[in-house]
Amino acid sequence: MAKGRPSTVFFCNECGYESSKWMGQCPACKAWNTFVEEPVVKTAQSARTGTRKNAPEPMSVSAVSPESMKRCKTGMSELDRVLGGGIVPGSLVLVGGDPGIGKSTLLLQLCRNLSSQQHKLLYISGEESLGQIKMRAERIGSFTDDLLLLCETDLADIEQVIRKHKPEVVIIDSIQTMYSENVTSAPGSVSQVREATNTLMNIAKSLSVTVFIVGHVTKEGTVAGPRVLEHMVDTVLYFEGDRFASYRILRAVKNRFGSTNEVGVFEMRGDGLAEVEDPSALMLSGRPKDSAGSCVVCCMEGTRPILVEVQALVCRSGFGIPRRQAAGTDLARVNLLMAVLEKRMGYKMSECDAYINVAGGMKMSEPAIDLGIALSVVSSFCNIVIPEDLVVFGEVGLSGEVRSVSLAEGRAMECRKLGFSGIMMPGSNASSIKGLKDIKVYAVNNLADAISALK
Ligand code: TYD
Ligand code: MG
Repeated sequence: MAKGRPSTVFFCNECGYESSKWMGQCPACKAWNTFVEEPVVKTAQSARTGTRKNAPEPMSVSAVSPESMKRCKTGMSELDRVLGGGIVPGSLVLVGGDPGIGKSTLLLQLCRNLSSQQHKLLYISGEESLGQIKMRAERIGSFTDDLLLLCETDLADIEQVIRKHKPEVVIIDSIQTMYSENVTSAPGSVSQVREATNTLMNIAKSLSVTVFIVGHVTKEGTVAGPRVLEHMVDTVLYFEGDRFASYRILRAVKNRFGSTNEVGVFEMRGDGLAEVEDPSALMLSGRPKDSAGSCVVCCMEGTRPILVEVQALVCRSGFGIPRRQAAGTDLARVNLLMAVLEKRMGYKMSECDAYINVAGGMKMSEPAIDLGIALSVVSSFCNIVIPEDLVVFGEVGLSGEVRSVSLAEGRAMECRKLGFSGIMMPGSNASSIKGLKDIKVYAVNNLADAISALK
């Protein structure tokens, strides 16, 4: 009878787009060759017509008690900051990141801190054996008996355990290993991940348990099986950083309970992740002295100013088409700034290769770093050394003007805190900042001012 009706559907592995037939390119996220076939998940449908006995009652806003929003501190101020001030009971938090970046370590540390405050915790791993978790736990520190460990991948069993033990916080490591018997496709597939998240969301909301879900990121930079998950959870945190550099950045991409432009900075040590309270000092360590092409800029990560070094290398190209590369910043922006320098300032850079690097592996896209990029390019091109105790910030417009940036005062305070003796900033910002008597302020209105201040 059901003959002819499709019993499978195709999902985009990248974004979860659903289609009845296979496609080469996903119409939603434009990824190629990402469609996978999965069986149709049948959900029971109840006929909801007429008056029901237990119809839900809506409530007025004033009647809802704000008590349920009471946050619980994690004992790691960097994590609290990213979560918007602590853990909200009953929230569902996705922690994404490349494999090996430190997601399990971070969450186990969270468990250690919370268990020492007598919170009941359950750490469910579908990836590692109890012995392996224990090995990691020994590196991290001592745990109390309030932390329970479980190696399980079957969601029905997991639900039973949660209902029985009633922990306050549950860690699911990782969502890609979990499976539900209601869905026939393999663990890690779009339907399984969707179903698993749905189940966990129901548990979180009904029992007021906070659930942290670990999600692995595939090469393309999305959690596998993935944006499906992002809109279902309350908070999405991404753990970034070079696996070979020791520091890690935890970024909130979505947060129903706080700001999304907060970052937390951690450093991977032998005994787990350590919080970095002063990221600027870390980013600037090992900076070269008296070298052309290096410039310290101040960019904001959320409400937090971070100083980083921008390096430029401009050299004559051996080929017809010059090579331009940017690491840690937007290449299109670099090309634009170089075009502005060429047209407005007369630097003949169209035959030059240019390589821009944000040292330390940070990714910055804020317009306030424009002036720093432009000056480091000029510095490398003309072989002028930018004073090492000078910090630069400002947005550069197409006619070479230097435009004001937001939160200039916070940036200036950070520069002073780190002991810099000079700040170059947009003229319009400089006039509004008071209390910078001990620092030399170079107020510039255009690129010509900025470059002549260096000479
Ligand atoms: P892990 O948390 O297992 O990564 P993920 O869960 O994101 O896949 O972290 C693994 C890496 O961290 C591994 O390369 C070893 C390193 N590490 C340390 O350097 N110090 C430590 O104390 C721990 C526990 C791990
Ligand atoms: Mg892990």
